Amino acid sequence: MLPLFLHALFSGVVLGVNNGLARTPQMGWNNWNSLGCAVSESLLLDTSKILVDAGLKDVGYQYVVLDDCWQDGRGEDGYIRSDAGKFPHGMKRVAQQLHDMGLLYGMYSSAGDMTCARYEGSLDHEEKDAETWVSWDIDYLKYDNCFHRGRFGYPEISFNRYDKMAKALNATGRPILYSLCSWGEDYVHTWGMSIANSWRMSGDIYDHFNRPDDLCACDDAGSHCVAPGFHCSVMNIINKVAPYVDRGTFLHVAALKSPLLIGADLRTLSAQALTILNNPAVIAINQGPLGRSVARILRDLNVKKDRYGQGEVQIWTGPLFPHDQLVVFLNAADEDLEMTTTLNDVFVHEGPEGSATQTEETFDAHDLWANRMDIVTAEKILTREQSQQPPSHAKEWYNATVTPYKDGLLEADPRLLGQRIGSFGPDQPVLRADVPRHGIRMFRLRNLTGGGTRYALHKDEL
Ligand SMILES: *[C@@H]1O[C@H](CO)[C@@H](O)[C@H](O)[C@H]1NC(C)=O
Ligand SMILES: *[C@@H]1O[C@H](CO)[C@@H](O)[C@H](O)[C@H]1NC(C)=O
Ligand SMILES: *[C@@H]1O[C@H](CO)[C@@H](O)[C@H](O)[C@H]1NC(C)=O
Repeated sequence: MLPLFLHALFSGVVLGVNNGLARTPQMGWNNWNSLGCAVSESLLLDTSKILVDAGLKDVGYQYVVLDDCWQDGRGEDGYIRSDAGKFPHGMKRVAQQLHDMGLLYGMYSSAGDMTCARYEGSLDHEEKDAETWVSWDIDYLKYDNCFHRGRFGYPEISFNRYDKMAKALNATGRPILYSLCSWGEDYVHTWGMSIANSWRMSGDIYDHFNRPDDLCACDDAGSHCVAPGFHCSVMNIINKVAPYVDRGTFLHVAALKSPLLIGADLRTLSAQALTILNNPAVIAINQGPLGRSVARILRDLNVKKDRYGQGEVQIWTGPLFPHDQLVVFLNAADEDLEMTTTLNDVFVHEGPEGSATQTEETFDAHDLWANRMDIVTAEKILTREQSQQPPSHAKEWYNATVTPYKDGLLEADPRLLGQRIGSFGPDQPVLRADVPRHGIRMFRLRNLTGGGTRYALHKDEL
C-alpha cells in the first residue's frame, strides 16, 4: 500500500489551466487500477458511502471518477449511450446521488474512435459528448489517448486533438475539471498546461516500486517517447517528472502536488491503508495554498542495487505555506539507510553555498508520518455499522470541510504538523533520518521566525 500511496503522490500528473477548478490538486477515487471494467452504479454508490463514512471525503477526497467500460455505443442521433445493465437508472441519477452526498462525479472517455477497452470513443464527437456529460451533471473528465487513428507524432497534432474537447467542455458553460491523459506523448509538458486542469506525464502506473518493464519503454518524458504504455513503476514515473516540476502554470506543481486519486477498492480497504490515505499532515502538503514548486536536490545512484540492477536515493525540497519548508527523503536503494541533508543544501535554490538568508533561521523539524491515526481506530471506522452515528473518536479526525488546510496550517493544528523531532538551523545544520528500504520520510520544517504562525507557536510553548 505504501507504494500505492507513493504513486498517488508521484503519479506524474501536473496541473494547468485556470478555469476556477483544481486550484489545489484534485483528490478522489478512480476505479481503474483495482477494478478495471467491473463498473456499475452500485460500485459507485457503495464507494461514495465509504468515502463519506470513513471521513475520506472530509479530508478532501471528493471526486468519484468512473473509468472505462460504462458506454453502450452511439445512437443514430450521434449521442453516446451508457450501459443500461451497469447503470440501470442512468448517469444523471448517479450524479444526483453523489451530489447529495457532497461528492463530485467524474467521467471517462478517449480522444480516439475507441477507448482503451474498445468502447465508444469521443474523437470527432467532442461537442455532442460534452453536451452529454453536461446533461448528466458531470464535474470531471479523464480524457485518454487510445485509438487516436494515428493523430499524434508532433505536438501540434496532439494539441489540436485535445484542444477540441477543451473547447467543447468550455462551450457548455459548466465548469468541468479536464484531466488530460496523453501519457506524456508529444511533449505534453510544453502544451498541456494551456488547455487542461491536469495532464499526465507517463504511461499507466503498476504496483511495482522499481521493476523495469518493456511495456513502459520510455525512461524520459522529454525525449520522443513512442511507447509510454503501461506497467510503469513508481520510480520510473518519479524520474520522468523530476525535470519538469516548473511546468504547472498556476500551482507550479511539483511531483508532490500531483492529484491524489485513490486506486484501491474501498470495499476491501485495510485499516493500515486507511491510516495512510487519511493522514492529514501529508495531505496538507499536497493541498497547501502556496504555488511554488518542490524540486529534487539530490539523486544518488551509488547505492545498493536490487536484482533488477535498480537502486538510488533522492532528496526533494521546496517551500510550503505559510513560511515552512518540505524535505523528502526517498530511499529506493535495496537496504534500509540513514539519510542526511544540510541546511545549506535544503535552501540551495535560494542561494548557493549557504548564502541564502534562510540558512540563518531556525526551524522545528516535524515528521509527517509519525502521528498517523492508530490502526485500532481505523479498524473501528471501517467496521462500524452503517446506521451508527460517527463514533466518539471522530473528533480526532481532521475535517477539512470545517477547517480548510490553509486555516489549519496557520493555527498550527497538531494533526497537520505531525511529530516534532528536533530543530534544524545554524546550531543543528544536519537533518538525519532512518529511511526503510523502498520507503519515504517527509519533514515539514516550521519557520520559528515566521509570520502568521507566531501566535500559535507561542501558545504551544507556554
Ligand atoms: C465534517 O464536518 C461536517 C460539517 O460540520 C460534518 O457534516 C461532517 O460529518 C464532518 N465529517 C466527519 C467525518 O466527522
Ligand atoms: C471558458 O474559458 C474562459 C476563457 O479562458 C474562462 O474564462 C471561462 O471560465 C471558461 N468557462 C468554463 C465553463 O470553463
Ligand atoms: C521565515 O519567516 C520570516 C518572517 O515572516 C520570513 O521573513 C522568512 O522569509 C521566512 N523563511 C522562510 C524560509 O520562509
